[in-house]
Amino acid sequence: MYKFLTGIKSTGRPHLGNVLGVIYPTIFLTKNEKVKNNLILIANLHSLTNLKYIKRNKTNAYNILAVCLACGIDSQKFIFYRQSDLPEVTELFWFFSLIFPYKRLKLVHSFKENVRTKHIINTGILTYPILMAADILITKAELVLVGKDQLQHLEIARKIAKKINNIKKIFTLPKAIGIDKLIPGTDGTKMSKTKKNIIDLFASKQEIKNQIMKINTHKKFSTKDLLKDNLYQIYIILAGKKNKEKITKTFKMGYQHAKEELYSFIINKFKIERILYKYYIKRTNKLETIFKQGAKNIKKIVNSTISEVRKAFECN
Ligand code: TRP
Repeated sequence: MYKFLTGIKSTGRPHLGNVLGVIYPTIFLTKNEKVKNNLILIANLHSLTNLKYIKRNKTNAYNILAVCLACGIDSQKFIFYRQSDLPEVTELFWFFSLIFPYKRLKLVHSFKENVRTKHIINTGILTYPILMAADILITKAELVLVGKDQLQHLEIARKIAKKINNIKKIFTLPKAIGIDKLIPGTDGTKMSKTKKNIIDLFASKQEIKNQIMKINTHKKFSTKDLLKDNLYQIYIILAGKKNKEKITKTFKMGYQHAKEELYSFIINKFKIERILYKYYIKRTNKLETIFKQGAKNIKKIVNSTISEVRKAFECN
């Protein structure tokens, strides 16, 4: 039996890339009988490393939960909880920050990327992996599902666990399951909100249409470009390789036609999810109850871990 955890940063409504890259793999992996005590953490403190998310932080957490439920994650089988509902996580973060050298944090890929692209780097961006280690280790999770870009953070969590275990054996060493399913965005690079290249499955039909029409393609159709074609790749990922021939035929009728077909395909495929999303997002009281209940359910393990750590640091 394995304890499973995944975390989603609350920076807005999950898009097609998030649904295919995190939500579906979560459903798939937890179908396995050996996986139990499934935890889904909404990282609503990590989101704040960019202050522009303060304003919609609450709504964004609701959005993630509503999309997860709409896509078929069962709230009876999963514990959904928000990072901010468990102050013990930030307490653990402090203990961890005492034993991890800051120079190592400066070498982390995600940090270097921030240095390259941002003017202002707050301390939270530097210590991001430490908070993530606290998220993970406090639950004693054994399997942690993350995107490939997060694997380095998981390595840091394991290092911290080992260091503390040398003082006192407290932590389980989490195993990472890294997903490298790259979902291309409308410009052909990895789909991401910051790049404004997303397909938002839960937006209005017109917005979805506009996003699809924006997908970059070659100027003129040619079969030899097809495999490199971004529109084609998105279509195949969604419809599956078994429909390759049918899709290729659609493309032979021109890119515009293929885009219209992809639009209808998406609206059809996610019809129920779109209805359910609308249902849940209107019921924030229900969503709030799920979060509160989740925090309550996980409190026992969280309390037990933090008291062991307080003891180890003679802060009990
Ligand atoms: N940093 C992760 C991301 O951006 C989200 C996250 C926060 C997470 N805490 C976590 C993922 C704990 C797994 C476990 O994708």
